Amino acid sequence: MNELKLSKRLEAVASFIPKGSVLADIGSDHAYLPCYAYLQGMIEKGIAGEVVEGPFQSAIQQVRKTELDNVIEVRKGDGLEVISPNEVTCITIAGMGGTLIQSILEKGKEKLSGVQTLILQPNIGAKKIREWLLENGWELVAEQILLEDGRIYEILVAERGDSEKPYASKKDAHLLVGPFLAKEKNDVFVQKWTHELGHWKKIVSQLEVAAKTEANELKMKELGEKIRLVEEVLEVERS
Ligand SMILES: C[S@@+](CC[C@H](N)C(=O)[O-])C[C@H]1O[C@@H](n2cnc3c(N)ncnc32)[C@H](O)[C@@H]1O
Repeated sequence: MNELKLSKRLEAVASFIPKGSVLADIGSDHAYLPCYAYLQGMIEKGIAGEVVEGPFQSAIQQVRKTELDNVIEVRKGDGLEVISPNEVTCITIAGMGGTLIQSILEKGKEKLSGVQTLILQPNIGAKKIREWLLENGWELVAEQILLEDGRIYEILVAERGDSEKPYASKKDAHLLVGPFLAKEKNDVFVQKWTHELGHWKKIVSQLEVAAKTEANELKMKELGEKIRLVEEVLEVERS
């Protein structure tokens, strides 16, 4: 992977960047994504944000090597603290857990003025992000699920708008699995949730024979509800 050839996952993230954006890529590591987006003519300029020294240095070297110092600025800092309000129009945050992405957005809320598009790629826990978007006036406008090297990734794209709109039906289920992904229901989506269902059912059967503690009962109830929601989406016949 380099600034000219991204992974399938990052290429899919980049494909959602509106042309002419001023981009902030948070947790940029090597800064491949903003460099690629500039070289492909997708963005006017970009900021690569990194909180850890090693990846921060890799980003600086990458930008220097590609001679993009005048258009891609590498900044060190935690989450959205590297940008100012009204400085960027699009933010990408990729390759982290959903809880971390959600906390970066929550902590940096005041930096989101002027931002029109959020492109978020959680490795796990996309539900946390959908919930945050819903509560904060960001309308989910597109989703993608893809398989790369045996791992499944989701991409969530949001714009300012009617955050309730994507959840007109099956709200709880769609917060969990994604309203657009549930509608498309492609092979990767079915693979992911079939696997999750199997995993949850295994835990439930273990809990059924475990001690009847309050915590176990609660866990069983939670899993039972998730199983019900996902089976409804997958249209699994219930026995
Ligand atoms: C697994 S890498 C993903 C890199 C790249 N975005 C991708 O998708 O391939 C996650 C990066 O996020 C950085 N990171 C984690 N928490 C961060 C935060 N709060 N602010 C900025 N960067 C962060 C890590 O240092 C790491 O370089």
